[in-house]
Amino acid sequence: MIILGIETSCDETAVAVVEIKKQKVRILSSLVSSQVKVHAKYGGVVPEVAARLHIEKMLPLLDMALKNADKSLRAIEAIAVCAGPGLISSLMIGVETAKTLAFILKKKLIRVNHIEGHILSCLSSQFGQVNFPAIALVVSGGHTQLIQVRNYLQYKLIGGTRDDAVGEAFDKVAKILNLGYPGGPAIARATAGCNSNYFKLNFPRPMIDSKNFEMSFSGIKTAILYKWQELKRGLAKQDVDNAKKEIAKEFQQAVIDVLLYKTAKAIRKTGARTLILGGGVSANAELRGQLARMVAKEFPQVELLIPELAMTGDNAVMIAIAGYFHAQKKDFIGPFKLQADPNWELV
Ligand code: KG4
Ligand code: ZN
Repeated sequence: MIILGIETSCDETAVAVVEIKKQKVRILSSLVSSQVKVHAKYGGVVPEVAARLHIEKMLPLLDMALKNADKSLRAIEAIAVCAGPGLISSLMIGVETAKTLAFILKKKLIRVNHIEGHILSCLSSQFGQVNFPAIALVVSGGHTQLIQVRNYLQYKLIGGTRDDAVGEAFDKVAKILNLGYPGGPAIARATAGCNSNYFKLNFPRPMIDSKNFEMSFSGIKTAILYKWQELKRGLAKQDVDNAKKEIAKEFQQAVIDVLLYKTAKAIRKTGARTLILGGGVSANAELRGQLARMVAKEFPQVELLIPELAMTGDNAVMIAIAGYFHAQKKDFIGPFKLQADPNWELV
């Protein structure tokens, strides 16, 4: 089956052509136009600006994706589009494009949840029979959730953050430390080569001992804000840089400790046979490494599925893959029924 995937939920315009047959995925083309440089000037995504850029990029990207895939629009068998959650004005560009194409070309149309896309993004390089039940740890800019995946497209929420998402916490801490936007990669870069703890930092691991699977990350950010205000007074320039590195490192470790602890607990509680990682923060090398070591040591029988780096951030391949599973169930929607839903929760 050849699927056209479209993703515009936030600040990435993405189009992909994916062929899935005989349990094999072939990415015929995958294009992502990131607006990150534009939004960096404002320190975060400006919805109006994002929507305008999606409109500008959509048709050229679609044209190029088809050319790179060497496919005509007629050859496309279904169109999968991310309909939420996300920014309404951004989502609408992808959704209206998909609706128009489906209407004019009489193609099957599939609405895909963005979080479902992140959960299935690992399949772009490791398609095949997943051993269920699985636990998915979704860590993005807007979501931090532990989801039980009982089978393809069958989800149950196990726990999640009560306040900031992990990616959001990375972005806010990077802002406090003036490290730039987006914060995740900036924090990760700042930690590189930092092996000291001269400032004896020890940030809280909020809710790590709570009996449930709930998490909280905004307290770490506040602790960092106060610590940084206290530390930066009277520090020489070089010490300021060292303090930033140590804060970044201790922050990243605090977050990873909480995520690993709650994930391990969820695997134990549900008897998961597979652990899936997804979302923008899954690009974090330390998180990937520590999670892999934890699984190898504590759950050698559990298979760990982690997306390739190119599939960690928002992309349209993951939307097409999720679309494929919906297509198997004939879960299509008419072009006049489909609507963008900014608050669409998967579970
Ligand atoms: O999934 P995503 O691209 O967009 C949403 O669905 O929200 O996730 C974006 C988030 C941002 O908060 C960004 O700072 C974070 O992912 N991120 C990272 C890294 N790369 C991106 N966080 C930590 N380490 C990284 N290397
Ligand atoms: Zn995302």
